[in-house]
Amino acid sequence: MDTVNLEHCKLNIAADKEELKKALAERIITMAQQAAASGGNFTIALSGGSTPAALYDLLAQPGYKERMPWKQVQMFWGDERCVPHDSPESNYRMVEEKLLCKIEIPRENVHPTVGQDENCRRSADLYEASIRNVFSSSEETRTPQFDLILLGLGPEGHTASIFPESPVLQEKQRLVMSVWVEKLKMHRVTFTFRLINNARHIFFLVEGDSKKDIVKQVIESGNEVLPAQFVKPQHGQLEWYLDRAAAAGLNCTTLPV
Ligand code: 6PG
Repeated sequence: MDTVNLEHCKLNIAADKEELKKALAERIITMAQQAAASGGNFTIALSGGSTPAALYDLLAQPGYKERMPWKQVQMFWGDERCVPHDSPESNYRMVEEKLLCKIEIPRENVHPTVGQDENCRRSADLYEASIRNVFSSSEETRTPQFDLILLGLGPEGHTASIFPESPVLQEKQRLVMSVWVEKLKMHRVTFTFRLINNARHIFFLVEGDSKKDIVKQVIESGNEVLPAQFVKPQHGQLEWYLDRAAAAGLNCTTLPV
Protein backbone atom coordinates (compact mmCIF):
# COMPACT_ATOMS: atom_id res chain seq x y z
CA MET A 1 0.00 0.00 0.00
CA ASP A 2 1.47 3.34 -1.08
CA THR A 3 0.40 6.51 0.72
CA VAL A 4 0.51 10.06 -0.64
CA ASN A 5 -0.28 13.04 1.60
CA LEU A 6 -1.91 15.85 -0.34
CA GLU A 7 -2.95 19.25 1.02
CA HIS A 8 -6.59 18.26 1.75
CA CYS A 9 -6.55 14.50 1.78
CA LYS A 10 -4.48 11.35 2.03
CA LEU A 11 -4.29 8.77 -0.73
CA ASN A 12 -3.95 5.09 0.15
CA ILE A 13 -3.12 3.25 -3.05
CA ALA A 14 -3.15 -0.53 -3.14
CA ALA A 15 -1.61 -2.68 -5.85
CA ASP A 16 -4.93 -4.34 -6.63
CA LYS A 17 -8.50 -4.90 -5.41
CA GLU A 18 -7.45 -7.72 -3.09
CA GLU A 19 -4.90 -5.59 -1.24
CA LEU A 20 -7.32 -2.68 -1.22
CA LYS A 21 -10.14 -4.49 0.58
CA LYS A 22 -7.75 -6.11 3.06
CA ALA A 23 -6.07 -2.81 3.92
CA LEU A 24 -9.39 -1.04 4.40
CA ALA A 25 -10.83 -3.90 6.45
CA GLU A 26 -7.79 -3.78 8.76
CA ARG A 27 -8.10 0.00 9.11
CA ILE A 28 -11.80 -0.25 10.01
CA ILE A 29 -11.10 -2.99 12.56
CA THR A 30 -8.36 -0.87 14.17
CA MET A 31 -10.63 2.19 14.34
CA ALA A 32 -13.51 0.18 15.80
CA GLN A 33 -11.26 -1.49 18.39
CA GLN A 34 -9.87 1.92 19.43
CA ALA A 35 -13.37 3.36 19.81
CA ALA A 36 -14.50 0.35 21.84
CA ALA A 37 -11.36 0.42 24.00
CA SER A 38 -12.11 4.04 24.92
CA GLY A 39 -15.53 2.94 26.12
CA GLY A 40 -17.50 4.36 23.24
CA ASN A 41 -19.38 3.19 20.20
CA PHE A 42 -17.91 3.05 16.70
CA THR A 43 -20.38 4.88 14.49
CA ILE A 44 -20.08 4.02 10.81
CA ALA A 45 -22.11 4.90 7.73
CA LEU A 46 -21.76 2.39 4.91
CA SER A 47 -21.70 3.23 1.22
CA GLY A 48 -23.78 1.35 -1.31
CA GLY A 49 -23.31 0.30 -4.90
CA SER A 50 -21.12 -2.59 -6.01
CA THR A 51 -17.59 -1.59 -4.94
CA PRO A 52 -17.88 -2.05 -1.18
CA ALA A 53 -19.59 -5.47 -1.37
CA ALA A 54 -16.22 -7.28 -1.34
CA LEU A 55 -15.12 -5.27 1.71
CA TYR A 56 -18.30 -6.11 3.63
CA ASP A 57 -17.93 -9.77 2.65
CA LEU A 58 -14.34 -9.78 3.92
CA LEU A 59 -15.35 -8.25 7.27
CA ALA A 60 -17.73 -11.21 7.67
CA GLN A 61 -14.98 -13.80 7.19
CA PRO A 62 -13.16 -15.74 9.93
CA GLY A 63 -9.98 -13.87 10.83
CA TYR A 64 -11.84 -10.58 10.45
CA LYS A 65 -15.34 -10.77 11.97
CA GLU A 66 -14.17 -11.93 15.42
CA ARG A 67 -11.85 -8.90 15.66
CA MET A 68 -14.64 -6.39 15.18
CA PRO A 69 -16.34 -5.25 18.44
CA TRP A 70 -19.78 -5.56 16.86
CA LYS A 71 -21.59 -4.85 20.15
CA GLN A 72 -20.01 -1.40 20.12
CA VAL A 73 -20.66 -0.74 16.43
CA GLN A 74 -23.57 1.51 15.39
CA MET A 75 -24.20 0.91 11.67
CA PHE A 76 -26.00 3.26 9.31
CA TRP A 77 -26.24 3.70 5.53
CA GLY A 78 -25.03 6.92 3.92
CA ASP A 79 -27.70 6.54 1.29
CA GLU A 80 -30.43 4.15 0.23
CA ARG A 81 -32.52 3.51 -2.81
CA CYS A 82 -36.25 4.05 -2.25
CA VAL A 83 -37.11 0.43 -2.91
CA PRO A 84 -38.15 -2.40 -0.54
CA HIS A 85 -35.25 -3.77 1.55
CA ASP A 86 -35.66 -7.12 -0.22
CA SER A 87 -35.15 -5.53 -3.64
CA PRO A 88 -31.92 -6.37 -5.53
CA GLU A 89 -31.46 -2.57 -5.75
CA SER A 90 -31.42 -2.14 -1.96
CA ASN A 91 -28.17 -1.13 -0.27
CA TYR A 92 -29.51 -2.64 2.94
CA ARG A 93 -30.07 -5.99 1.21
CA MET A 94 -26.50 -5.97 -0.14
CA VAL A 95 -25.09 -5.47 3.39
CA GLU A 96 -27.53 -8.03 4.85
CA GLU A 97 -26.34 -10.66 2.37
CA LYS A 98 -22.62 -9.86 2.50
CA LEU A 99 -22.22 -9.08 6.20
CA LEU A 100 -25.17 -8.91 8.56
CA CYS A 101 -26.34 -12.51 8.09
CA LYS A 102 -22.82 -13.74 9.05
CA ILE A 103 -22.00 -11.68 12.14
CA GLU A 104 -23.21 -11.32 15.72
CA ILE A 105 -24.23 -7.68 15.77
CA PRO A 106 -27.12 -6.63 18.03
CA ARG A 107 -30.02 -5.82 15.76
CA GLU A 108 -30.62 -2.60 17.72
CA ASN A 109 -27.18 -1.46 16.48
CA VAL A 110 -28.23 -1.76 12.83
CA HIS A 111 -30.06 1.30 11.52
CA PRO A 112 -31.47 0.95 8.03
CA THR A 113 -33.88 3.45 6.56
CA VAL A 114 -37.55 2.81 7.28
CA GLY A 115 -40.46 3.20 4.85
CA GLN A 116 -38.14 4.35 2.05
CA ASP A 117 -40.22 2.43 -0.52
CA GLU A 118 -43.54 3.96 0.55
CA ASN A 119 -42.84 7.60 1.35
CA CYS A 120 -39.26 8.69 0.72
CA ARG A 121 -39.68 12.19 2.18
CA ARG A 122 -41.04 10.76 5.44
CA SER A 123 -38.34 8.10 5.39
CA ALA A 124 -35.68 10.82 5.24
CA ASP A 125 -37.31 12.60 8.20
CA LEU A 126 -37.43 9.37 10.18
CA TYR A 127 -33.80 8.58 9.33
CA GLU A 128 -32.64 12.00 10.47
CA ALA A 129 -34.54 11.49 13.74
CA SER A 130 -33.03 8.01 14.13
CA ILE A 131 -29.50 9.39 13.71
CA ARG A 132 -30.16 12.18 16.20
CA ASN A 133 -31.55 9.63 18.64
CA VAL A 134 -28.55 7.30 18.47
CA PHE A 135 -26.14 10.23 18.80
CA SER A 136 -28.30 11.79 21.55
CA SER A 137 -28.15 14.89 19.46
CA SER A 138 -31.73 16.16 19.40
CA GLU A 139 -30.61 19.81 19.43
CA GLU A 140 -31.22 20.99 15.82
CA THR A 141 -28.14 23.20 15.92
CA ARG A 142 -25.89 20.27 16.69
CA THR A 143 -24.58 17.99 13.99
CA PRO A 144 -23.96 14.33 14.83
CA GLN A 145 -20.33 13.29 14.26
CA PHE A 146 -19.76 9.88 12.73
CA ASP A 147 -16.48 8.14 13.42
CA LEU A 148 -16.36 6.98 9.81
CA ILE A 149 -18.41 7.62 6.68
CA LEU A 150 -17.60 5.41 3.70
CA LEU A 151 -18.33 6.90 0.27
CA GLY A 152 -18.22 5.64 -3.27
CA LEU A 153 -17.74 7.66 -6.44
CA GLY A 154 -19.99 7.51 -9.46
CA PRO A 155 -18.75 7.93 -13.05
CA GLU A 156 -20.06 11.50 -13.23
CA GLY A 157 -18.77 12.50 -9.81
CA HIS A 158 -21.76 11.71 -7.62
CA THR A 159 -21.28 10.41 -4.12
CA ALA A 160 -23.81 8.96 -1.69
CA SER A 161 -26.96 9.85 -3.65
CA ILE A 162 -25.88 13.41 -4.38
CA PHE A 163 -25.71 13.79 -8.15
CA PRO A 164 -24.65 16.77 -10.28
CA GLU A 165 -27.16 19.66 -10.07
CA SER A 166 -28.91 18.00 -7.14
CA PRO A 167 -30.82 20.23 -4.70
CA VAL A 168 -28.86 18.44 -1.95
CA LEU A 169 -25.74 20.37 -3.05
CA GLN A 170 -27.18 23.56 -1.56
CA GLU A 171 -28.74 22.01 1.57
CA LYS A 172 -27.30 23.48 4.75
CA GLN A 173 -29.84 22.49 7.42
CA ARG A 174 -31.03 18.94 6.87
CA LEU A 175 -28.89 15.94 7.82
CA VAL A 176 -30.81 13.57 5.53
CA MET A 177 -32.83 14.33 2.40
CA SER A 178 -34.97 12.47 -0.09
CA VAL A 179 -34.21 13.30 -3.69
CA TRP A 180 -35.40 12.33 -7.18
CA VAL A 181 -32.52 11.15 -9.38
CA GLU A 182 -33.58 11.81 -12.98
CA LYS A 183 -30.66 9.85 -14.43
CA LEU A 184 -31.76 6.71 -12.59
CA LYS A 185 -35.50 7.48 -12.59
CA MET A 186 -35.67 6.74 -8.89
CA HIS A 187 -35.96 8.39 -5.51
CA ARG A 188 -33.11 8.09 -3.05
CA VAL A 189 -32.56 8.95 0.62
CA THR A 190 -29.14 10.45 1.27
CA PHE A 191 -26.94 12.04 3.91
CA THR A 192 -26.30 15.72 3.20
CA PHE A 193 -22.91 17.40 3.24
CA ARG A 194 -23.72 18.97 6.60
CA LEU A 195 -23.69 15.46 8.06
CA ILE A 196 -20.98 13.99 5.83
CA ASN A 197 -18.50 16.82 6.40
CA ASN A 198 -18.85 16.61 10.18
CA ALA A 199 -17.42 13.09 10.33
CA ARG A 200 -14.10 12.35 12.03
CA HIS A 201 -13.05 10.24 9.06
CA ILE A 202 -14.38 10.14 5.50
CA PHE A 203 -13.03 7.40 3.24
CA PHE A 204 -13.71 7.20 -0.48
CA LEU A 205 -13.40 3.60 -1.67
CA VAL A 206 -12.87 3.56 -5.45
CA GLU A 207 -11.41 0.86 -7.67
CA GLY A 208 -10.95 -0.06 -11.28
CA ASP A 209 -9.74 1.45 -14.52
CA SER A 210 -13.21 2.78 -15.34
CA LYS A 211 -12.98 5.29 -12.47
CA LYS A 212 -9.47 6.64 -13.15
CA ASP A 213 -10.64 9.72 -15.09
CA ILE A 214 -13.27 10.79 -12.58
CA VAL A 215 -10.87 10.17 -9.68
CA LYS A 216 -8.32 12.47 -11.37
CA GLN A 217 -10.97 15.12 -12.03
CA VAL A 218 -12.30 15.09 -8.47
CA ILE A 219 -8.87 15.12 -6.78
CA GLU A 220 -6.84 17.28 -9.15
CA SER A 221 -9.21 19.75 -10.83
CA GLY A 222 -9.28 21.83 -7.65
CA ASN A 223 -12.72 23.46 -7.93
CA GLU A 224 -16.03 22.61 -6.26
CA VAL A 225 -18.10 21.51 -9.24
CA LEU A 226 -18.69 17.79 -8.89
CA PRO A 227 -20.64 16.53 -5.87
CA ALA A 228 -17.67 14.50 -4.61
CA GLN A 229 -15.66 17.75 -4.51
CA PHE A 230 -18.08 19.09 -1.87
CA VAL A 231 -16.71 16.45 0.53
CA LYS A 232 -14.51 18.63 2.77
CA PRO A 233 -14.43 17.48 6.41
CA GLN A 234 -14.76 20.43 8.80
CA HIS A 235 -12.61 18.89 11.52
CA GLY A 236 -11.88 15.37 10.33
CA GLN A 237 -9.68 13.57 7.86
CA LEU A 238 -10.47 12.77 4.22
CA GLU A 239 -8.78 9.72 2.76
CA TRP A 240 -9.03 7.87 -0.54
CA TYR A 241 -8.69 4.10 -0.67
CA LEU A 242 -7.82 3.34 -4.29
CA ASP A 243 -6.33 0.54 -6.29
CA ARG A 244 -3.61 1.42 -8.78
CA ALA A 245 -6.05 1.16 -11.67
CA ALA A 246 -8.29 3.87 -10.23
CA ALA A 247 -5.25 6.01 -9.31
CA ALA A 248 -3.54 5.60 -12.68
CA GLY A 249 -4.53 9.04 -13.96
CA LEU A 250 -3.22 11.01 -11.00
CA ASN A 251 -0.19 13.27 -11.49
CA CYS A 252 0.58 13.37 -7.78
CA THR A 253 1.47 9.72 -7.52
CA THR A 254 4.86 8.65 -8.78
CA LEU A 255 4.31 5.04 -7.91
CA PRO A 256 7.13 2.59 -8.34
CA VAL A 257 6.42 0.37 -11.32
C1 6PG B 1 -25.28 3.90 -4.29
C2 6PG B 1 -24.06 4.52 -3.73
C3 6PG B 1 -23.33 5.32 -4.77
C4 6PG B 1 -22.14 4.48 -5.17
C5 6PG B 1 -21.54 4.98 -6.45
C6 6PG B 1 -20.45 4.02 -6.93
O1 6PG B 1 -26.27 3.77 -3.58
O2 6PG B 1 -25.21 3.50 -5.47
O3 6PG B 1 -24.04 4.92 -2.53
O4 6PG B 1 -22.92 6.58 -4.36
O5 6PG B 1 -21.17 4.53 -4.11
O6 6PG B 1 -22.57 5.04 -7.41
O7 6PG B 1 -21.08 2.78 -7.21
P1 6PG B 1 -20.23 1.50 -7.68
O8 6PG B 1 -19.40 1.09 -6.49
O9 6PG B 1 -21.27 0.48 -8.02
O10 6PG B 1 -19.38 1.95 -8.86
